[in-house]
Amino acid sequence: MAELETYITEHEDHFLEDLKGWLRIPSISTLPEHNIDVVRAAEYAVQQLERIGIEGAKLIPTNGHPLVYGEWLHAPGKPTLLIYGHYDVQPVDPVDLWETPPFEPTIRNGNIYCRGACDDKGQTMLVFKALETLMTVNGSLPVNVRVLVEGEEEAGGESIEAFVKAHPEHLQCDAAFICDTGMPAADIPALIYGLRGIIYTEVEVQGATRDLHSGSYGGVAPNPLHALAIIISRLKDADGHIHIPGLYDKLHKPTQAEKDFWEQDPLHINEALRDEMGVTQLSGELEYPPLQRIGARPTLEVHGISGGFTGEGAKTVIPAIAKAKISMRLPSELRPFEIIPLFERAVKDAAPAGVTVTIRSIHSGDGVLVSPDSAPIQAAATALKEVYGKDPIFTREGGSIPIAALFGEILHAPVVLMGFGLPDDNLHAPNEKYSLDQFFKGIRTVVRFLSILGQ
Ligand code: BES
Ligand code: MN
Ligand code: MN
Repeated sequence: MAELETYITEHEDHFLEDLKGWLRIPSISTLPEHNIDVVRAAEYAVQQLERIGIEGAKLIPTNGHPLVYGEWLHAPGKPTLLIYGHYDVQPVDPVDLWETPPFEPTIRNGNIYCRGACDDKGQTMLVFKALETLMTVNGSLPVNVRVLVEGEEEAGGESIEAFVKAHPEHLQCDAAFICDTGMPAADIPALIYGLRGIIYTEVEVQGATRDLHSGSYGGVAPNPLHALAIIISRLKDADGHIHIPGLYDKLHKPTQAEKDFWEQDPLHINEALRDEMGVTQLSGELEYPPLQRIGARPTLEVHGISGGFTGEGAKTVIPAIAKAKISMRLPSELRPFEIIPLFERAVKDAAPAGVTVTIRSIHSGDGVLVSPDSAPIQAAATALKEVYGKDPIFTREGGSIPIAALFGEILHAPVVLMGFGLPDDNLHAPNEKYSLDQFFKGIRTVVRFLSILGQ
């Protein structure tokens, strides 16, 4: 262990340089103009794996962005761990709000700032660096490892889903490890046992066949923007209740232990939430504690609305078309394929007369709920305790990782969700960052995790 520790301490700068090189590649998976960057980021991951001594590191072409795969299977009798990460990132707008350019990694106050610094290049790189440490110091790994890194997580993860379904035999493993989540505070290590699923849609409302003079036609013309506002307000009321018939029918009741944890809130996460967001009051279903609202209740959010006139000055027009991006987060028992039709029906029913509504599903992914008792999760808990000096909490997070459920379903492997992000990392927002301390602690934790798994 001492040698492993020495290697980590002596290579901090080198680890950071390798992370910076990756961060500089703007691998935004949802913007076609970045397709080449996405491939470059995948190739960078392959080179990293090759240098570590992971074998057969390669790109696997897909219908979308390539997968990165590599393996090291020379620990006979030891378990096989499937390691997952994603090398794609979210768009950077609004770009003016970044203090330093979004793809120029910059270190300030013990953090590295860049799009992807945490989500998920930083977290994936720390796992690579744990592998490097073990391979370099010991010449071997304590367990067998398969590494699968995708480039479409932020775009719905369709290609990895197709690959896992088509080639489960290539991914045979005893556990999957996903390093793409966070912890509630730097001194509260966490293991995540639940993530929500998602459906992401675009709702288009068409009124007249062309834009109209609002004087000549105002009073008789259907207004798609107003129709959209009506639809949205009918879908979710001011108290956070979603009015989609059937939505809540299949929702499971949480356990008493979960309810107690959410209600007692021993870690004071409720107050922390208000401060993090900079708001005076939380919104949503006040009859449920905030942690339950984030982890175990469905939500409906509008991400953007477009249409009509938004330029300088005034223009008196009734627009022909309005669009909104609307998503729902779904606890794992609410399956996207069952909820999408309910959503579509509710949107159509909520539309006022005179407009035509089209709903496009952009992507969707299942949620996941894992048992915290599995041996690999207990190994992760021990590793966290050794590095952080405290038992981790077991909690649910509200975000989604579409492939997580499929690892459990298709590969029949327990899924370990252990990540080192912090609440103020600004995921998907301007000034995304990753704490260097968390990065290095993460490396140490993953080294311990693999060693314990191999014992
Ligand atoms: N790493 C996040 C998921 C996450 C965020 C887990 C916070 C736990 C806490 C992941 O990269 C992500 O952002 N996923 C998307 C998925 C979607 C685009 C299909 C999400 O949740 O919006
Ligand atoms: Mn992520
Ligand atoms: Mn993300």
